[in-house]
Amino acid sequence: MIRVAVIGAGQWGPNLIRNFHNHRTSEVVWVVDADAGRLDQVRARFPDVGLDTAADSVMADGRVDAVVIATPTSTHHTLVKRALEAGKHVLVEKPITADSSQAEELCALAARMDRILMVGHVFVYNPGVQRVKQLLDAGDLGRVYYVTMVRTNLGPIRVDVNAAWDLASHDVSIANYWLGTAPATVSAVGGGWINPGVEDAVFATLRYPNDVLVNLHVSWLSPRKTREITLVGDRRMLTFDDMNLSEPVRLYDKQVTDVRTPAPYIDSFASFRASLREGDITIPRIPLGEPLKVECDHFLECIAAGKPPLTGGREGLTVVHALEAIQRSVRAAGREEPV
Ligand SMILES: NC(=O)c1ccc[n+]([C@@H]2O[C@H](COP(=O)([O-])OP(=O)(O)OC[C@H]3O[C@@H](n4cnc5c(N)ncnc54)[C@H](O)[C@@H]3O)[C@@H](O)[C@H]2O)c1
Repeated sequence: MIRVAVIGAGQWGPNLIRNFHNHRTSEVVWVVDADAGRLDQVRARFPDVGLDTAADSVMADGRVDAVVIATPTSTHHTLVKRALEAGKHVLVEKPITADSSQAEELCALAARMDRILMVGHVFVYNPGVQRVKQLLDAGDLGRVYYVTMVRTNLGPIRVDVNAAWDLASHDVSIANYWLGTAPATVSAVGGGWINPGVEDAVFATLRYPNDVLVNLHVSWLSPRKTREITLVGDRRMLTFDDMNLSEPVRLYDKQVTDVRTPAPYIDSFASFRASLREGDITIPRIPLGEPLKVECDHFLECIAAGKPPLTGGREGLTVVHALEAIQRSVRAAGREEPV
């Protein structure tokens, strides 16, 4: 049994507590939350779990193998550092930190302590996102031209990070995973209306290697919950709708075929005609499953087997680099910034 302590039982933490509690190879031995009222709610469900308003008891408890952190981003660096120094494996919610030098420090510390450091980029564990990755790797879409990603809803409105740090962290992690690389530059604009200085909506365009463009629209100030992605390749196109639980992926057998006709006269250019091919739309079968469960399973497997996680500290750091570049670009009114 892997003994787990969960720090942070706010909106997201209870999902982690449930998953590690229900897992056959893990046991939740502590839940920590600075708010005693949250702990009362945990006690009602899990009467045998140790509860505390500070993390000291967890760090000092030699029984604890792993610490799972679901507190606000601004607290991640301190808590992850303490847990790694105490010799615990760590799963920290996304984004790993709000600062790349802090994330670097945590990656180096995890390596030195020989502990697993994993970041909760839960979409990488989404069965639909994983199916798209298989299609991309198999070349089903051909060369990828561009990707658009829309992630909007009304709330939750955060104050410690803006909508890009909160929401685009998901999209950047998905894009990096699908494309197998990180963006080179970013240009972004954003607006902060509710809390001055904290952007409620951000519109960003990321340039990836091989001329791939990724366009993001994230907002917690929108009337409709939307999680839509469109991927355009030169052989096929694809949509991913995370709100459609049973059929999230659609593969469109559509393409532009480039037909060049030979020049009729020796002194003229070859003429170009784009013809459109519209074939079938197929809906791959995606197994239903809770992505967070897949993520928690993966964390426990990595601890047991000593294998590096799919979304380890380094992958989390790569996301932070992109988020920092988005932030710089927003502050510079959209200037293209290197990542
Ligand atoms: N993977 C996902 O899809 C997903 C979804 C939501 C949130 N998150 C992430 O989870 C984290 C928490 O988000 P949330 O929505 O649950 O926030 P929240 O504000 O609802 O909950 C945070 C909890 O942490 C507690 N807390 C704060 N500082 C603490 C400290 N130093 N020690 C102990 N407890 C402390 C607070 O009392 C609160 O109960 C964030 O990093 C967020 O980005 C991830």
